[in-house]
Formats: sequence, C-alpha cells, structure tokens
Amino acid sequence: MRTNTTVSRRHFMGGAAAALGYLGLKPGASLLADEPGRLYFPPWDDEYDSLAKLGFNENPWGPSASVFEAMTGAWKYANRYGYPDGNIQQAIADHHGVPRDHVLMGAGSGELLRVVGLAFLAPGKKVVGVEPSYGSVYSHASGLRADAITLPLLENHRQYIPDLVETTNRNARNVGFVYLVNPNNPTGVTVTADEVKELLDGIPEDMPVLIDEAYHHFVQDPQYATSVPYVLEGRPVIVTRTFSKIYGLAAMRLGYAIAPPALIDHMSPFSTGTINALVRWGGVAALTDKEAEERVRRDTIALRGKLASQIEQWGHEVIPSETNFIMVHTGREASDLGTAFRERGIHVGRPFPPMEQYLRVSVGTEEEIGRLLEAWPKVFA
Ligand SMILES: Cc1ncc(COP(=O)(O)O)c(C=O)c1O
Repeated sequence: MRTNTTVSRRHFMGGAAAALGYLGLKPGASLLADEPGRLYFPPWDDEYDSLAKLGFNENPWGPSASVFEAMTGAWKYANRYGYPDGNIQQAIADHHGVPRDHVLMGAGSGELLRVVGLAFLAPGKKVVGVEPSYGSVYSHASGLRADAITLPLLENHRQYIPDLVETTNRNARNVGFVYLVNPNNPTGVTVTADEVKELLDGIPEDMPVLIDEAYHHFVQDPQYATSVPYVLEGRPVIVTRTFSKIYGLAAMRLGYAIAPPALIDHMSPFSTGTINALVRWGGVAALTDKEAEERVRRDTIALRGKLASQIEQWGHEVIPSETNFIMVHTGREASDLGTAFRERGIHVGRPFPPMEQYLRVSVGTEEEIGRLLEAWPKVFA
C-alpha cells in the first residue's frame, strides 16, 4: 500500500507540476492552505486514522451535534442548483452587526486570501507583511508575478508595526495591500488594538489592509480586539474569518471576508462561489451553537496550557500562545523532529523558516496530547 501511494504520488506530482505551470504557479506552490511550498498529497492514507494529528492547527473534536444535524438535513438539496441555504450570508452579517453587502463568502478563508491577492496584486505589485506568517499569501503573490516584501519579527516574536508602516509608505506606489495575521501563525502572538490603529493611521488612507483573524476565538489577551469595527468606519480593511478552527469544519471549506462594499464589489468577481449546500447550513448552525463554541474555546485553552507547561518543565521555551497551537524553541531542526515524531505516529508542524529550530504543535485531543508528551522525552533523549 505504501509503495502504491508513493508511485501514485509521483504520478500526481508530475501532473500537478504541469498543471501548476499552466496556472502560472511555480512547481511546489501550495495547493493546501497550511502547507505553502509543498503539495498536499499525504503518504499516510492507510495510517491516517491512527495518527496523532498535531500538524495543521485543526479542531480535533470536529463540528458539534447541532452542526452535524443541520448538515445532514441539507442532503436533500444535493441534486439542486437553487435551494434554500439557511440565509448564511445574512447570518454572518448579523453575527458581526454589519450589513449583508459587507460580507463575501469563500470555500475556506484561504479562498478569500487568494481573492484579495487576485484583486489587489496586479503584476509587479507587492504585499507587505512579516515572516514567518501564513505564507500562502506570499507564495500566491509570487505565482501572480507580483511580489512580497516580508519583514522579520522582533526578538520577542512580535510584529514590529513601525517597520510595517515605514516599509509600506516607502513602497506605497507599488504596494497592493498589507497583510496582518492576528494572532499570527506560526507564533501564536497577537497584535494589540493600539498597534492595529498605529498601522492603519500610519499608512495611506486608501491602502487596503488584509487582517486575517483565523484564530480570533482563542485569544484571551485583553489588549487584542477584532478589526471589524474599522470596516464599519469605511476604512479599506478586509477582515477574514474561518469556520475551520473554532467550528471544526476545515474539510467542509467555509470562510468569509468582512469589508466595505466597494472592496467587496472589487473582490467578488474573483471568488469561485463554490460553497456547498451542506456547509452553508452547517455554518448557520455553528454560529448559533454558542455552547459548543465555548466548549471548544475552553478545552483548547486548557489543553494548550497543560501542553505548554509540561514542555516548559522539560526546559524548552514556549512562545505564549493566543491560538490553538504552540510554538516551541527546541534548538533542533523542525524537519528532523518531524521525522522523529512521525516514526512514533505523531504528525507535528512543518519547519517555518527562519524559525527552523522551533516546532509548532497544534492542540489535539487529550489522548493525542498524551501521546505527544509520552514521545517527547524519547525524541529529545
Ligand atoms: C492564519 C491562517 N489563515 C487562513 C487559514 C486558512 O484557513 P481556511 O482556508 O481553512 O479557512 C489558516 C489555516 O490554517 C491560517 O492558519
């Protein structure tokens, strides 16, 4: 089975490389949200169920019972083009207290990140942001024959706003948009509300700013705030959110952008509109099920604390996280550790240059975290 998988993977890679060339993307460009630089074609088909899945920042518990029920009920629309969809767009708008025309939905927030790239990065234009961050935006830019200006993080792993402001202003004529992931992936660190204001007030007032709030629900930092209110002020801010994390719907693909209508109108021709009936209904149910949302938030934060404090007791620095993953300074190459954990049935995060000596570990179930903590001393022995 493993041999077959390898063979079919090779064939797939060949075909995919050709397809990527056709699309104007470099071979090796990402087809999966969390894996920039690598095609996602798991060589683990036969082992998948038994793996501890701590590599992709997923919600390990999956959608709530009410979401399952809503999605199951929507199967009756499977053969339709036109069907009731639970009014998902209005439900998202109501959830944020914005008019419906401020919402653009996508098949995952990853689609919206690409839509922003397509809409604002004409060839030669640049996206400005930090590195490491959610790199698919930068790799998409290079595929569009645009470019990325990436700035390093501070030593304390924070995004340095004066640097972002200065770089954006210095290159303003060529900057298509600024990208801010808040809290950031892979560090788990927030940008405070004051810092977001400093950024927006410091750059040209018509400069689009994409603020990716994929991990919003896990934040406890009182100095953090969502940037949605800036949209209502009419600033050119695009906030993206996802149903993949807190609501456990990663494989179902649902995300959205909140932005002023003029920006939505500019972006929407680039969206695919490929959101299926099941996840539309699931999304409406997810927004309503506050109890499930609170449970996921509470359990994630509790397990994150347990995981971090045990690893710290073993002498590793853990960057304080506001997300559903932690970033650990191990002093060892993340690629080697990935292999060592993988041999023990545990999938951990890939390397995130230039932080190659850090390991990103997602919060999994209690059982998965137990397996990681059992393997950890052996891997580091
Ligand atoms: C910061 C960030 N943004 C966006 C995404 C894409 O999420 P999705 O396309 O599943 O909504 C991810 C996925 O891990 C992420 O970490």
